[in-house]
Amino acid sequence: MTTRHKFLLLAATLLALYGTAGAQSRGAAGPVGRSICDTCACAPDNVTPVTVNCTCTKTKLLIVREQDTAILSSVQDLTLASCGFVSLPSSGLSSSTSLSRVTVRDMKLFHYTAGLFPALESLSVEDVGELVLDGFGPANRTLRHLTLRRTTVFRLVKGTVTAAAPLRRVLFDRVDVDEIESGALDMSFVSDGDNGQLQAAADRFTVVDSTIKSVQSGGVTVRSGAVRILNSTLDDLASGAVVVDNARGSIRLSGNRLGGMTGDSLSAVRWDGDGNVQVDGNLFRTLPADMQLLRSERPTEFVGNEVDSVDLSPFLFGLGPVVRATDNRFTCDCDPRRISVLKLNQVFPGLLQPDTDSRFARLLADNYCRQPANTTLAGYRDLLVREIACKGANLTVVQPPQSSTAQSPPSSDTAAPNRGNTVGTMYVTAAAVATLLLLRNLSVN
Ligand SMILES: *[C@@H]1O[C@H](CO)[C@@H](O)[C@H](O)[C@H]1NC(C)=O
Ligand SMILES: *[C@@H]1O[C@H](CO)[C@@H](O)[C@H](O)[C@H]1NC(C)=O
Ligand SMILES: *[C@@H]1O[C@H](CO)[C@@H](O)[C@H](O)[C@H]1NC(C)=O
Ligand SMILES: *[C@@H]1O[C@H](CO)[C@@H](O)[C@H](O)[C@H]1NC(C)=O
Ligand SMILES: *[C@@H]1O[C@H](CO)[C@@H](O)[C@H](O)[C@H]1NC(C)=O
Ligand SMILES: *[C@@H]1O[C@H](CO)[C@@H](O)[C@H](O)[C@H]1NC(C)=O
Repeated sequence: MTTRHKFLLLAATLLALYGTAGAQSRGAAGPVGRSICDTCACAPDNVTPVTVNCTCTKTKLLIVREQDTAILSSVQDLTLASCGFVSLPSSGLSSSTSLSRVTVRDMKLFHYTAGLFPALESLSVEDVGELVLDGFGPANRTLRHLTLRRTTVFRLVKGTVTAAAPLRRVLFDRVDVDEIESGALDMSFVSDGDNGQLQAAADRFTVVDSTIKSVQSGGVTVRSGAVRILNSTLDDLASGAVVVDNARGSIRLSGNRLGGMTGDSLSAVRWDGDGNVQVDGNLFRTLPADMQLLRSERPTEFVGNEVDSVDLSPFLFGLGPVVRATDNRFTCDCDPRRISVLKLNQVFPGLLQPDTDSRFARLLADNYCRQPANTTLAGYRDLLVREIACKGANLTVVQPPQSSTAQSPPSSDTAAPNRGNTVGTMYVTAAAVATLLLLRNLSVN
């Protein structure tokens, strides 16, 4: 923040100097003075330009004055690029009611004050060292496209995007964000009525190659859209951080590094049409055993993930009936949260219902330990049972399910609630019996 303050101070100083110079040159040039079209490329080059391109080639300083607002009232497309400092009227360009597309590129700092562009439909911000976004003001009813690339935003504040905006696409590409506050991105996607099918692909929220340190509860809401979070780092996701409501299309989490999260940090509360869930190639520092997306009734893939830590028994037994979980690699250690469940079937054959049992066996055969390399969970189970691994380790408690039926997240699919309950019940029965038996000191020997 201190560099930013220094920068603002410098900017203010420059502004003061420029203001003085400007006053002198206006005195010389007469009352009309310089228009924005003297510093920027206006097309057509007359009093009612449609496109204004300010690339700050001549001066690093761009000052849009009150008297420029008349010219800007006809402009539809504005580009601000490579400026060291931009000053816009503090009250915004309230008469720029045609200005729908704005591109900001290649700047150290850009401060978007609420109400700056009142009829904005598309904002693209690229290569900006620090973007300060106060919200869109009246444009919160017109905003359709928001693209941030190679840009740093310290904080996305509450109300940045509101549900009133008829969004088509929101893209964060190589964006760095420290914090997404509660209520910051409340996104409602709409499709073109005429062209629903074609448009559907674009109706979404995409995060790629980005780093987001923390997302507070209710920080991101996606209504009627698809969600893709790819090759990004999300350090800390609060409970309820990302909620997808009336999901349209797929929810995809691929190639991410995911830090602290809870079972409902990412959740889908309703589905529209045939959506699916794909969670692949991620690294989970702590995989919540009750991850809501994996208890879905929707076709779900949980494939090729690396998991540092998970409470394996509620995780495996809580997987939804249509979740395909293969080629994931788990930490295989002597922690009771890993080994109790693996020994379960050996110690208590016949404990599980036949269909649960065969599913369980398949999960153990299709998933792996990170170490020993190429050992399946079933292989590790055999090492445990033969006491080649974790000899004498305590086999005390199979963790009871934390939220499986007691506080199960809202069913992700109102059309088929019964199957979800069946799975939950099956699991609870198995776990409860196992816990009971294990606590009764029935030992492996
Ligand atoms: C704006 O001007 C720059 C430099 O003259 C040019 O490279 C760029 O393509 C222009 N952009 C638009 C949107 O006209
Ligand atoms: C923008 O949205 C916020 C939150 O819904 C609302 O409070 C505010 O009045 C809106 N601004 C305008 C100018 O419509
Ligand atoms: C994500 O990373 C993988 C592996 O580096 C790469 O193959 C893939 O193209 C990346 N995806 C995107 C959308 O950048
Ligand atoms: C694991 O399996 C792969 C593919 O079968 C093989 O290339 C690799 O050498 C194996 N690693 C170890 C440590 O056995
Ligand atoms: C088993 O538990 C007992 C008591 O909690 C502890 O003293 C002992 O070190 C544990 N053994 C192993 C191998 O973790
Ligand atoms: C389990 O074993 C401990 C000591 O080995 C004993 O004190 C305890 O009563 C046993 N619990 C049950 C339920 O048998």
